[in-house]
Amino acid sequence: MCGAEMTTDIAMSAPQAATKPNPNAPTSERVLSVHHYTDRLFKFRITRPQSFRFRSGEFVMIGLPKEDGKPLLRAYSVASPSWDEELEFFSIKVPDGPLTSRLQKIQPGDHVLLGKKPTGTLVLDALTPGKRLYMFSTGTGFAPFASLIRDPETYDRYDEVIVTHTCREVAELKYSQELVETTLEDPLCGEFAKGKLAHFTSCTREDHPNQGRITTLIESGKLFETLGVPPLNPETDRAMICGSQDMIQDTKQLMIDAGLTEGSNAAPAEFVIEKAFAG
Ligand SMILES: Cc1cc2nc3c(=O)[nH]c(=O)nc-3n(C[C@H](O)[C@H](O)[C@H](O)COP(=O)(O)OP(=O)(O)OC[C@H]3O[C@@H](n4cnc5c(N)ncnc54)[C@H](O)[C@@H]3O)c2cc1C
Ligand SMILES: NC(=O)c1ccc[n+]([C@@H]2O[C@H](COP(=O)([O-])OP(=O)(O)OC[C@H]3O[C@@H](n4cnc5c(N)ncnc54)[C@H](OP(=O)(O)O)[C@@H]3O)[C@@H](O)[C@H]2O)c1
Repeated sequence: MCGAEMTTDIAMSAPQAATKPNPNAPTSERVLSVHHYTDRLFKFRITRPQSFRFRSGEFVMIGLPKEDGKPLLRAYSVASPSWDEELEFFSIKVPDGPLTSRLQKIQPGDHVLLGKKPTGTLVLDALTPGKRLYMFSTGTGFAPFASLIRDPETYDRYDEVIVTHTCREVAELKYSQELVETTLEDPLCGEFAKGKLAHFTSCTREDHPNQGRITTLIESGKLFETLGVPPLNPETDRAMICGSQDMIQDTKQLMIDAGLTEGSNAAPAEFVIEKAFAG
């Protein structure tokens, strides 16, 4: 259900609110569900204001009010697709993190602040047309791709959509595994995704059939062998990358080595990048 009636503009400070409401202030959205995967990862869904428009793959500021009433906000990829009436997020729990030490305790019925300006480069419009779309992710970097693999437009634009997810531990892969399965079974998304969507997982610090960093698996060719596809080719392949700064740098270099050029909203090209977290 679209939760427009739950939306409230949050004042930045009381005196300011009395004289001049801030049109950019976040809205207050109701938490609809929360699911914990590990002691480090959880997902949650909130109401979506009717006025909140975004492109699948974008991020937005979300958060909670601080003790003084001012908003404490952090960047979050919207994990749900742009057609969904609710908003989903996939979150880390940083034990002493200013936001997530508190956010991890939210329950249905609580409220979360939602910014009004979604943005980002992991969008279909930032890539030139191609045959095969790769989405390379580590950790919570899977979140923007959780949005894009549920968007029918992704399958309109590409014949093959390959989403990779690498984590330290096997349990950290659960969200992406569950999501790909439900997407393929979904009456709306499944029709588009079946026969086009491939999911490749790997693990770096526990036993798993695909062992190792995604960069190692690209370099060794194991990724392409396992998927049964040819090596990266700028004529046919496009890529989106989301993970830590180091993962992005190393994966980006492999794209450049393969002859792909980095794109942006202003100048679409063959691959795009975005940090899954700062630091
Ligand atoms: C463009 C962008 C999109 C983002 N999207 C998401 C998202 O969809 N889901 C999400 O959980 N976080 C996301 N983040 C990170 C998020 O903004 C916060 O950093 C995170 O919620 C922790 O907030 P905090 O206040 O508890 O701790 P912070 O003070 O923000 O972070 C403390 C430390 O925790 C580590 N850390 C922070 N976030 C992560 C993470 N996601 N994975 C692993 N380690 C992390 C880093 O070492 C960081 O220095 C995104 C960040 C950016 C820049
Ligand atoms: N995940 C956990 O169990 C865990 C537990 C406690 C604390 N933390 C802390 O949380 C922070 C983030 O951890 P995270 O696991 O979410 O993210 P992360 O450290 O970025 O690791 C996620 C995945 O990315 C891989 N990776 C790291 N650097 C890479 C590179 N340059 N190229 C390709 N792949 C790369 C990792 O492989 P490698 O394993 O080979 O690095 C791992 O499989 C870290 O500061 C960590 O110390 C994590």
